[in-house]
Amino acid sequence: MRRNNLILGLLFLIVTGVMCVRSRAQASVVKAEKSWQARRELSDAAARRRKDIIYHEEKVPDYTLPQPLWLADGTKVAGAEMWRTRRRPEILELFRKYVYGRAPVGRPKGMTFKVFDLKHKALNGLATRKQVTVNFTGKENGPSMDILIYLPGAAKKPVPTFVILNFGGNHTINAHPGIKLSTRWMRSGREATEGSRGSSSSSYPVEKILSRGYGLATIYYGDIDPDYHDGFKNGVHPVFDKLVDGKRAPDAWGSVCAWAWGLSRAMDYFESDEVIDNKRIAVLGHSRLGKTSLWAGARDERFALVISNNSGCGGAALSRRRFGETVKRINTSFPHWFCDNFKKYNGEEDRLPVDQHMLIALMAPRPVYVASADEDLWADPRGEFLACKNAGPVYDLLGLRSLGVKKMPALNSPIQKGKVGYHIRTGGHGLTEYDWQQYMDFADKNFKGAEISLRDRKDIIFFCGFESNKWYEQFGMRSRPERVEVVSSDSERKFEPHAGRAMRIKIDRGGHYGASIMYRFKGQVGQEPQEIYFRYYLRLADDWNPAGGGKMPGISGTYGRAGWGGRPSDGRNGWSARGQFNRQVDGKTPVGYYCYHADMKGRYGSNWIWDTEKRGYLENNRWYCIEQYVKMNTPGKNDGILRGWVDGQPAFEKTDVRMRDVDILRIEAVWLNLYLGGSWVAKSDHHLYIDDVVIAHNYIGPI
Ligand code: GCU
Repeated sequence: MRRNNLILGLLFLIVTGVMCVRSRAQASVVKAEKSWQARRELSDAAARRRKDIIYHEEKVPDYTLPQPLWLADGTKVAGAEMWRTRRRPEILELFRKYVYGRAPVGRPKGMTFKVFDLKHKALNGLATRKQVTVNFTGKENGPSMDILIYLPGAAKKPVPTFVILNFGGNHTINAHPGIKLSTRWMRSGREATEGSRGSSSSSYPVEKILSRGYGLATIYYGDIDPDYHDGFKNGVHPVFDKLVDGKRAPDAWGSVCAWAWGLSRAMDYFESDEVIDNKRIAVLGHSRLGKTSLWAGARDERFALVISNNSGCGGAALSRRRFGETVKRINTSFPHWFCDNFKKYNGEEDRLPVDQHMLIALMAPRPVYVASADEDLWADPRGEFLACKNAGPVYDLLGLRSLGVKKMPALNSPIQKGKVGYHIRTGGHGLTEYDWQQYMDFADKNFKGAEISLRDRKDIIFFCGFESNKWYEQFGMRSRPERVEVVSSDSERKFEPHAGRAMRIKIDRGGHYGASIMYRFKGQVGQEPQEIYFRYYLRLADDWNPAGGGKMPGISGTYGRAGWGGRPSDGRNGWSARGQFNRQVDGKTPVGYYCYHADMKGRYGSNWIWDTEKRGYLENNRWYCIEQYVKMNTPGKNDGILRGWVDGQPAFEKTDVRMRDVDILRIEAVWLNLYLGGSWVAKSDHHLYIDDVVIAHNYIGPI
C-alpha cells in the first residue's frame, strides 16, 4: 500500500513537472499572457498631446490609500455586522459629502409610471418591447424619463435584466421605428432626428442579450439631467433642490448623482413590473455613465450586480494615482458632474477622505465588475484594476472571494472567479460586444448564488462561504488551523461542491481532532447575545465511518471554565450545546446536541439526538443544511430553548433547559468543533465538509 502511494506520488511529480516546464515554455512564446502594461508608444504619444497629464507609470507619485476597514475613530472593523452597520454607512456618507453630493431621499411623492407601448413579438418575434414614462413628480409639466425595455419573448418567469443609461436617446440603440424619439434636453448639435435611429446599436447587442435569457432596459440620461453646465436649471435638479439663501449647498447633488438617482427610480418601476426579476437587476454604464452606475450601485443596494465600463476618474480609477484624467481636470471640464466640495480636492487628492477602491467596496457583498480598455489611458486602466484589488479586504471580511489576483491580468483575460470581476480588452474607449459577453458570463455565475437570498437580510451577523483564502481571519484567527483545508474539488472522497469552495476537516486515523474554531461574539460584534441562530451546510465524506461518537459544531458559553471536556456545569461556571454524532447505524450517522447544562448528571453532558421524523440521521456524500437555535434560560429557571432543523425541517426541540443561574453566562461563541471521542480514536482517516456558515438573529433556513 505504502509503496503504491510512493509510486503514485512520483508519477504525480513527474507529470506536474512536465506540465510546469511546458507552461513556462508557452508563457515565453505567447506574449499576451503577460500582465498588462500600457504600451510605451501610446503613453509617449498621449504625453506629447497633453503635457500636464501623467501617462507613464514611473511618474505616478507615491500615495497611501485610506483604509476601508478602519472606522473614522480609529477602531478596526471586526466583522460583517460592524461593516454593515457602521463602516459602510460612514464611507457612503463621505462619498455623498465630498464627491457625488446628496440626492433626495427615497421615492418621490406622486411619481407615476405609464406604459405607453407594449409590443409582443417585437424584433422578429424575439422580444417583448415595452416603453414606460416615469413622471418623477406626477405633475403634467414635471420632469420625466422614458424607459425602453426588451424582454426575451419566450420567458416564462420574471427575467433578470440589465439596466443601462444611454448617451444619445433610446432611439439610438436600435433602428426600429416603434421606439420613441428622445427629444428632451438634447445637446446643441445633437438634435434627435429620424436619421439617428440605431446610430449606437453596436454598443447594445440586444439580440445576443435576449438569447442569453436577459432583459435590457435603457434610458436616455439627458431625460434625467442634461449633460451641460446650465447652473442646474434643467432636469430634475431645480425640482428637488433645496436652496439655502438662494444657494445650492456645497454637497448638493451633481449630474452623476442625478443620473444615478434616475436609475433608482427605474428600479422603483422594475419592482412594480412582475415580468422583471427585480432581485436580479444588473446596473451597467459606460464612461461618465460608468461612474454613474457605480454610484447608483453604492447608493441603492437593490441593484444586485454593478458594472463599470471604462469609467475612469471619479469612477473605478484611484484618484490618488493622478494617471490620465485628474480630479482637477474633471472638475474643470465638467463642473456640473460632482458636488462643489469635490473641487476642494483639485490637485489635493491625498487629502480626500476616500478613494475609489472604497466605492467598489460599497458594493460588497454584491458582485461588481470593472472593465478597462488597452488604449483608454485617459481612464487609467491600472488605477481601475488597483481599486478593485484594494476593495478585496472588505469582501474577505465578509467571507467572499474577491478578485483573487495580485497582478493585472493579460489583455483579454477576464477574471471572474470571485465577487469582483475585471478585464482589460484590446482597443479604445467604448462599450463593445466583447464587454457585454463578459458581463453576461459574470451575471450567469452570480445570479445563481446564495448571497442573493441573504443579501436583503439585515439580521445576518456573519457569513462565511470559505471563498476567501483568508477565511480564518473572519473567525478572528491569524492562521489556518491544522487538519483544515479549503477545497473546490476532492474526487477521491466523492466531493461535490455546495456553492464554490468548502472547508474540509480531517480526523486522522488513531486521532481525535478535528477542529476547534470559535467565532466569539464579544470580540466580533461587541456583545454576547441571549439567543442565536447558527446554520451551516454539512457533508460527510465518502470515508466517514465513525465506530464511536464525537462532537460537532454548536453554540457555547464555556468561558474557558466549564461546560466541556468533563468540566460539569453548575449554573454559574459555563455551559455548551455543541453538536454531536454517534456511530453509524445502517449507514447513517445520527446527529444531535451534546449539552452541558446545570441539571446534568455526572461529569459529561447530555446526549439529545435529533429524532423528529429521524431527520437527524445523515447519509454520507450528501449536503445537509443544519440549523441550530439556542435561547438562554431566565437565570435559575428551566425555560432555555434548543431547536434543530435539517434541510429546513424541524428535527429537534427542547424548551426546559437550564444552562445558567446567573445572567453573566451568555452565548459566548459559535464553536465549529469536530472531535472524535471520548477516549476512543478513529480507526481510519475521516473527513467532512462544511460550507456557507451563517449566524443570524432570526431563522435562516436553506438557500
Ligand atoms: C471625458 C471625461 C471622462 C468621461 C468621458 C465620457 O473623456 O473626461 O471622465 O468618462 O468623457 O463620459 O465619455
